[in-house]
Amino acid sequence: AEGDAAKGEKVFRKCKACHAVGPDAKNKVGPELNGIVGREWGAVEGYKYSNALIEMGDGKVWDVETLDAYLTKPKDVIPKGKMAFAGLKKEDDRADVIAYLAQFNAE
Ligand code: HEM
Repeated sequence: AEGDAAKGEKVFRKCKACHAVGPDAKNKVGPELNGIVGREWGAVEGYKYSNALIEMGDGKVWDVETLDAYLTKPKDVIPKGKMAFAGLKKEDDRADVIAYLAQFNAE
């Protein structure tokens, strides 16, 4: 189902301790997420990713499907990654936050 970006803005509150998105977004505990839908894994310059994410991400691009899996349970996708987040259990929450993030693709 198509996500609802307005609802996704609220879901993104759960991510904000660690991630920023938008014109002035800086890296925090996690990398900034501008353009994440369609962005290569581990692509932010100056952000220190886990070796696990870099190794697994070789040649991969974050698309709706891989983001949905990662946001369901990050440790299932990158077992040795360093995103300390349990995940979003509700499919709608994941679709909504992905729709919200996709708004920051075209700038
Ligand atoms: C990595 C999304 C919550 C910390 C990532 C990546 C995405 C993402 C897409 C990969 C970025 C890339 O390859 O450039 C989200 C979303 C969240 C969320 C949408 C909320 C639903 C959090 C929270 C924390 C966190 C709460 C901190 C407690 C990190 C860290 C990484 C990361 C440290 C780097 C992982 C590594 O290098 O293995 N996040 N995240 N994230 N996130 Fe999150």
